[in-house]
Amino acid sequence: MKIALICNMKPPTKDAARPADYYSECDSQKTVNAIAEAIRSAGHTVFPVEADRNLAVWLAQTPVDLAFNIAEGFEGDAREARVPALLELMGVPYTGSGVLALALSLDKAKSKQIFRFHGIPTPNFQLFRHADEPLDSRLKIPLIVKPNTEGSGKGINASSVVADEPALRAQVRHVLETYGPEALVEEYIEGTELTVGILGADHILPVLEVDFSECKGSGEFFYSWRMKEYQGDKQQKLTPRFWCPARLDPAVTQAVQSVAWKAACALGVRDVARVDIRLSPDGIPYVLEVNPLPGMDPEESNLPIMARAAGMSYEAFIHRLIDLAVERAFQRPAKRQAALSSIPSSHPIVPNPSVPPSGALPGSGEQGKGHPALARKKVPKEENLGR
Ligand SMILES: Nc1ncnc2c1ncn2[C@@H]1O[C@H](COP(=O)(O)OP(=O)(O)O)[C@@H](O)[C@H]1O
Ligand SMILES: [Mg+2]
Repeated sequence: MKIALICNMKPPTKDAARPADYYSECDSQKTVNAIAEAIRSAGHTVFPVEADRNLAVWLAQTPVDLAFNIAEGFEGDAREARVPALLELMGVPYTGSGVLALALSLDKAKSKQIFRFHGIPTPNFQLFRHADEPLDSRLKIPLIVKPNTEGSGKGINASSVVADEPALRAQVRHVLETYGPEALVEEYIEGTELTVGILGADHILPVLEVDFSECKGSGEFFYSWRMKEYQGDKQQKLTPRFWCPARLDPAVTQAVQSVAWKAACALGVRDVARVDIRLSPDGIPYVLEVNPLPGMDPEESNLPIMARAAGMSYEAFIHRLIDLAVERAFQRPAKRQAALSSIPSSHPIVPNPSVPPSGALPGSGEQGKGHPALARKKVPKEENLGR
């Protein structure tokens, strides 16, 4: 096949007038090269192409069979949904989620309203459009202030966690001025940082735990922008340790996977997603957000780490994404892979049985502690949805 690899590359020089994190969601040359190489290794021809205003003309002039979409776009709450919308207009099948799921999942507050509707735990929250709106007195401090429609930890740092109202208002004002138009204020959940990868309608990856206990010297204590941007920087002490599978009891792992699966279904994502969760000390897996365009750096991004822990090479992981899109686009309608939410309730979600009991993980030099039982454990069914 001829496959367009649609991305937003990091520019060679950064605009100094922009915030330092402005380009954080752009794709590195390394990631684009790795995906392109994996696509070629399956025998396809690949055309990396920038998702900018010229894309429509490029698509009209360059017949391709499929688009591999990793473009997260710039500016505005539709930025992740633009490429899929254009591809649908041009009749080009593509990998991953569709327009609605991409737009919804970018909006953290809207996602949380949907989680609530489905009984999915998510931190209590309030959305601010002005810094002086009355604070909902039911919210328990500490609180965390985040841009409502950003990713990659943008706008999230140690001063995002606030313990009194003056600090809250100052942080809300900063977020509105820098990332506007909405600031999301959430109860801060102490506990364990987890993320769950979903691949296709029948494959949930081992849970990844991100451990910040060795990062105290950095001044950051959770997955902030600096932690993500400079991950592994020993001088700055931004050295999270990764545990995949996470160090959880099997029953807790199952509960975490179940909640992640429900969250992905609730937003109607397709093919691939990473669901971010904070597990509270009393065992509640609070869903923070669903990422349908997760980072794809072959060594550093969370999802490829999880795929590797499940025994999948990076190439196999990319080939699987292509296969899922091909099945949807070219197979008989009855066999097509639809959004996760339309899986029959009897459909089992089976983790890859080849999950190794332990594995060296990139970036940390760490050995993941394994739960061999996880490999063949039954995991959630969609019948749990819609409570
Ligand atoms: N309510 C919260 N409680 C505890 N930590 C949080 C909370 N919200 C965000 N965080 C921390 O900030 C990180 C980034 O937040 P997230 O909502 O996932 O935004 P992003 O889209 O930038 O990844 C999380 O992975 C977590 O470490
Ligand atoms: Mg996140």
